[in-house]
Amino acid sequence: MDIVVPKDFQHLYVRDEKRPVVKIPDGVLRQVAAPVEKITKRHVKLADNMVRIMKEAHGVGIAAPQVGVSERIIVIAPEKKPVILVNPEIKEKSGKIVGQEGCLSIPGLYGDVERFAKISVEAYDIKGKPVDYDMEGYAAVIVQHEIDHLDGILFIDKVDETTLEWRDPNPEDE
Ligand code: CO
Repeated sequence: MDIVVPKDFQHLYVRDEKRPVVKIPDGVLRQVAAPVEKITKRHVKLADNMVRIMKEAHGVGIAAPQVGVSERIIVIAPEKKPVILVNPEIKEKSGKIVGQEGCLSIPGLYGDVERFAKISVEAYDIKGKPVDYDMEGYAAVIVQHEIDHLDGILFIDKVDETTLEWRDPNPEDE
């Protein structure tokens, strides 16, 4: 689906120091990101950067392509504490849940997306230790949204188009 950004929202689509997240239609968002073969200092720095950018943008998740790096790292923060997942893979999935989603790369646009309600995820933490999580609800949705980013998929590809709406992402910010 082609998104036409309304005039009132176009300022959110500028990429600068204040808004460092990559926005549509940047091609990096449509690439399939490469697996991390070996975690290096560069990846640790990248993950720190992602956490900072996500927090500054009031996001609950971010994927490396959203900071311009086509590698398989995501950060999720369903609660306060951010969790970094390297090479995350969904191993099991069940149930269905529909909820409204937005995306730091498509600021101001929101709509309903159907996701799996429960998933189990395998990944590595930023030290290279294997981790696995069983997740449901909000956390499961965020992981699915962020892993989609690693495959070049955006929520607008899956959204119920009849539910799309534009609104100010951070009203108290400006
Ligand atoms: Co997103």
